[in-house]
Amino acid sequence: MSFTIAIDGPAAAGKGTISRAVAEHFGFAHLDTGLLYRATGRRTLGGTDPVEAARTLAAADLEADDLRSPEVAQAASRVAALPDVRQALLDFQRAFAARGGGAVLDGRDIGTVICPEAEVKLFVTASDEVRARRRHKELVEKGHDITYDEVMADLRARDARDSARATAPLKPAEDATQLDTSEMTIATAIETAIGIVQARLALVS
Ligand code: CDP
Ligand code: CDP
Repeated sequence: MSFTIAIDGPAAAGKGTISRAVAEHFGFAHLDTGLLYRATGRRTLGGTDPVEAARTLAAADLEADDLRSPEVAQAASRVAALPDVRQALLDFQRAFAARGGGAVLDGRDIGTVICPEAEVKLFVTASDEVRARRRHKELVEKGHDITYDEVMADLRARDARDSARATAPLKPAEDATQLDTSEMTIATAIETAIGIVQARLALVS
């Protein structure tokens, strides 16, 4: 069975947390597509050409320690605006979705470009302040020396660049269900997403 769940939204909205939990609940595979762009961006910081970096991405690149740093996040957002970089990463993502057994992919363009036929599309949001607070807490807990204002600046700069680019911009698919997690605990956000997927699964099975 091929059953694809597309989870998109702005930076630090809770996409990864929800995707991991939904994948675990239903026994589906999960791909954090942001990691592909982060790993590509990270390689450009070392001087590699962005398109070359995307074309030759290896499994080990996805395990680098500093992929979550704001510096790498900015580099990811810059390379993500290049159509040839997105093209180089396309087949891998589509193959992941199509491999059978159910897949959850989270990113910016899953419901619009990568998997426009996905059975479930969620667009996860939260206010800027809530997203910056959550990501700041997460980064500080991981040992990063960063202020709330710096985190806010990173999120806003990426959201602006990701929304404004011509190729696969950040935007909800027309048939996506919006999930604003500003006032939700993690448990409530996960339960809500699982409920939406369950309802769709009941229709197709
Ligand atoms: O994947 P994305 O960047 O959209 O967000 P995430 O990494 O899943 O979530 C960002 C941070 O917010 C993490 O530290 C989550 O634990 C936290 N979070 C939260 O506090 N409440 C939610 N409803 C969802 C996520
Ligand atoms: O976790 P967070 O939401 O902060 O970022 P991410 O999902 O790891 O994505 C990092 C950057 O990669 C984003 O700011 C986008 O520029 C880019 N990205 C993209 O363009 N398309 C995707 N499907 C996933 C990420």
